[in-house]
Amino acid sequence: MRPSQPDILIAGAGIIGASLAWQLARKGCRVLVCDAGKLGGEASWAGAGMLAPGPEYEEPGEWLDFALHSLALYTEFVGQLEEDSGLGVEFSQCGSLEIACGEEEFSLLRDRAARRSQSGIETQILPSSELLARVPQLASSVCGAVFYPNEGQVDPRTVSEALRAALPRRGVELREQTRVANLYPHGSGVDVRLANGETVSTTMAVIAAGAWSSQIAVAGYALPEGFPVKGHLAGYRLPPGTLPHVLRFGHTYIVQRTTGYTIAGSSEEHLGFDRNVDAGIVSGIHEAAARLAPGLLPAAPDDAWIGFRPATVLPHPLIEQLGESPVWLAYGHYRNGILLAPATAERLTKVLTASLGMD
Ligand code: GLY
Repeated sequence: MRPSQPDILIAGAGIIGASLAWQLARKGCRVLVCDAGKLGGEASWAGAGMLAPGPEYEEPGEWLDFALHSLALYTEFVGQLEEDSGLGVEFSQCGSLEIACGEEEFSLLRDRAARRSQSGIETQILPSSELLARVPQLASSVCGAVFYPNEGQVDPRTVSEALRAALPRRGVELREQTRVANLYPHGSGVDVRLANGETVSTTMAVIAAGAWSSQIAVAGYALPEGFPVKGHLAGYRLPPGTLPHVLRFGHTYIVQRTTGYTIAGSSEEHLGFDRNVDAGIVSGIHEAAARLAPGLLPAAPDDAWIGFRPATVLPHPLIEQLGESPVWLAYGHYRNGILLAPATAERLTKVLTASLGMD
């Protein structure tokens, strides 16, 4: 179905924009979502899909609560998405381990776990004997870990495929290879100029174009700058069931899908939209991961790729109205876009349907 004049146009069909489009359509909105490339083709394709707020947020507060809420929404989000799409989404609440390799580090992790408990996060302290009993492939030198039993992982590529199937079933029009260039807010809506020269009129617009968001020009407004923070990942074809939990150690993480495919990450580079895969950086990630879990990983990765985390200068995503305009922002999710997609979609669906008088 093609909405003649959509209620809402969303620029960007990554997991943030596509989840929002789907949720809005479930509430009866007419939605058009445009993407300069493919649905879920950038950060949502590259991401490891850790659902692990415990180790990601240093301080308690609004954004940790938001992340915990999003984690709590995941089971329902996946269930509804599987129902609407008819496809399976790979999601597992397998728990995550934040590992310490030295006594001082273990003590810091234990302190943080105590603070995490005050924020309502369930944690368990595992001394090395228990840790090695659970994950014998770890280096025998590990000191211990904090276990977050409610955390887990989702394969974002399966989320994207399910969204791709669910969107048309819910009446959303998806236009790929269609870049949004300019937004012209006016008294009763927004005129949206596409890069192909076409103009679409809509009541409201949402900018959810990840690291590319601030390249969209909004007449009369300066958007907060969005920029990419490149990350490398390594993939391994391993037998299924060889890693029971998500592993984290400092900047290194290892995530195993139920198929056995295992991903190690990551790096951070500020190189703009440079798509080169740096073999030296991939080796560094592999070596760090193999030091942590020498009994798990083979001598070299089978695959390597990069992604562009959508960053801003802020330590939290922008999920807000652009001034008084009918334009809303949904970008800057940085390392946690996959985790925060359900709560971002929920929050914006509430405010946008209320603005349209549909709640
Ligand atoms: N979410 C993990 C990363 O950005 O590397």
